[in-house]
Amino acid sequence: MKELSLHILDIAENSLAAGASLVEISLTEEAGALTVTVRDNGRGIPPDILPAVADPFTTTRTTRPVGLGLPFWKMAAEQTGGRFSIESAVGVGTCVTAVFVSGHIDTPPIGDMPGTLVTLVQGHPRVDFLYTHRAGGVDFTLDTRTLRDTLEDVPLDSPDVLAWLSDFLRENLRI
Ligand SMILES: Nc1ncnc2c1ncn2[C@@H]1O[C@H](COP(=O)(O)OP(=O)(O)OP(=O)(O)O)[C@@H](O)[C@H]1O
Ligand SMILES: [Mg+2]
Repeated sequence: MKELSLHILDIAENSLAAGASLVEISLTEEAGALTVTVRDNGRGIPPDILPAVADPFTTTRTTRPVGLGLPFWKMAAEQTGGRFSIESAVGVGTCVTAVFVSGHIDTPPIGDMPGTLVTLVQGHPRVDFLYTHRAGGVDFTLDTRTLRDTLEDVPLDSPDVLAWLSDFLRENLRI
């Protein structure tokens, strides 16, 4: 079973490959469900391809885009009795939602979200990330746009910033 944080890294990499300048990741743990959304402002997925991207097993290999990130994410959520959806508009962006049933034996652990976020920022320092985590009525938010304003000319991938970011996330994401 793959940790959620590793799936989220895969899904966010799709957003980056689609040229997004903002990737919004949210994790919400409430009402017996863990909902993960990854929303981007990338190029979007054409409507003729959209139905096939999450279902490689039901389409023929010649007509589907090659890849397993989305199908595995869908399967992981549905296996717990949860659900998966993907909405996309060309030129606007894409939003991928996966809902896991909390406490189901097949619901993977969240894993290392600080590691995923630091990896994303380090690999894509010019892209902005908005991360929101809500659990037990407590909200945590990281917005690299705010961080960027504070840092002025210091790039987000400078070693000091990444080290700070890693510590900050590890201290605050214990919710
Ligand atoms: N956020 C997105 N924006 C635009 N296109 C996307 C997005 N997510 C997925 N796609 C399209 O759907 C295809 C399938 O995505 P998927 O993650 O399943 O596989 P992949 O990225 O091609 O390969 P991998 O197995 O390495 O993830 C992508 O190749 C891309 O064409
Ligand atoms: Mg992918």
